[in-house]
Amino acid sequence: MTTFSIAHKNYKKPLLKNIQGPVLVTGTGGFIGFHAAKALLDLGVDVVGVDNLNPYYDVKIKHDRTALLKHYKNFKFYEHDLSDKEAIEELFNRYHFTHVIHLAAQAGVRYSLTHPFSYLKSNIDAFLVMLECARHAKNFQHMVYASSSSVYGMNTKMPFSEDDPVELPMSLYAVTKRSNELMAQSYAHLYKMPLTGLRFFTVYGPWGRPDMAAFKFVKAILEDSPIDVYNHGNMARDYTFVGDTVRGILGALDTQADVTQQKHPVFNLGNNKLETLAYFIEVLEKHIGKKALKNMMDIQPGDVPQTSADITKAQVAFDYSPSTDIDEGLKLFIDWYKDYYGKK
Ligand SMILES: NC(=O)c1ccc[n+]([C@@H]2O[C@H](COP(=O)([O-])OP(=O)(O)OC[C@H]3O[C@@H](n4cnc5c(N)ncnc54)[C@H](O)[C@@H]3O)[C@@H](O)[C@H]2O)c1
Repeated sequence: MTTFSIAHKNYKKPLLKNIQGPVLVTGTGGFIGFHAAKALLDLGVDVVGVDNLNPYYDVKIKHDRTALLKHYKNFKFYEHDLSDKEAIEELFNRYHFTHVIHLAAQAGVRYSLTHPFSYLKSNIDAFLVMLECARHAKNFQHMVYASSSSVYGMNTKMPFSEDDPVELPMSLYAVTKRSNELMAQSYAHLYKMPLTGLRFFTVYGPWGRPDMAAFKFVKAILEDSPIDVYNHGNMARDYTFVGDTVRGILGALDTQADVTQQKHPVFNLGNNKLETLAYFIEVLEKHIGKKALKNMMDIQPGDVPQTSADITKAQVAFDYSPSTDIDEGLKLFIDWYKDYYGKK
């Protein structure tokens, strides 16, 4: 099975100056959590992974990601729901985490229209458990957590900047992510806790999520099935390659949040390069060597037509510099997909 390493290019080892481990990474059965854990393990850092391996999408891929991580001697895995406070507290007591990467969540905008309660449990209750456990942990130094570009909601000023007001969410998913930022803000203020929010922008890459466009499109094109092209291909996204996202996560984790500031830090981790959905599909067609059968559709409720990130703040704070364009990144994704599913 192809393993993918974010070390495929200019990923330098001395990136981590302040992290000894073990690092708690939540959502290691998931797409980004798997890559974040693997990157730490490759750097020789001990990782404790937690995931409830829920069936939001095909659990086989979650089990396969977890199995791959379990090959590392310095990885321990616990199948827990993060809303289970006692279980998570027990892990904090046992491992004395200094650093935490909190990525587990109920993801997906469209699913929040049909399954709203999953979002409250996994994104709000579980987030509070993480904050409370970190707050009481003796050696705790820093937690970075996943927010989302969806917090920008109906904003039309592009590119999105961290200083823009974020008061117009377009889905319950976005509400939960914005709530996480507000919860973190109150804990940072009350308890002087070093917390950092990371707004991810449409992350894609090997071991990607089956509910996201790259995965669904590659599958459909290979199987000669039609693809749904929302907003007639006129959606535009700041598609970010997962290797770049992970470099951003580790850079942020290694940079202590300044608790003397009034606001806890929140960073855009996008790619700083806007691409239309139509071009995204063209690149897939080029690498697969086949035309897609397209169902042109209107935009879906809850979806935003465009997301574009101003990444200056992350560039200045921890040298965040995404370097993978969609031509290179989608090729890596297609190669992984064909290998994983045994397609020629
Ligand atoms: N992928 C993206 O484009 C993107 C964009 C913006 C934000 N995000 C955020 O980044 C994070 C990671 O996203 P991803 O794409 O890897 O999603 P994912 O669904 O692949 O991973 C999330 C993991 O969390 C686990 N999980 C969910 N609820 C849990 C709970 N209550 N207890 C324990 N485990 C639980 C799931 O089983 C899953 O393995 C999420 O917080 C997501 O909201 C992702």
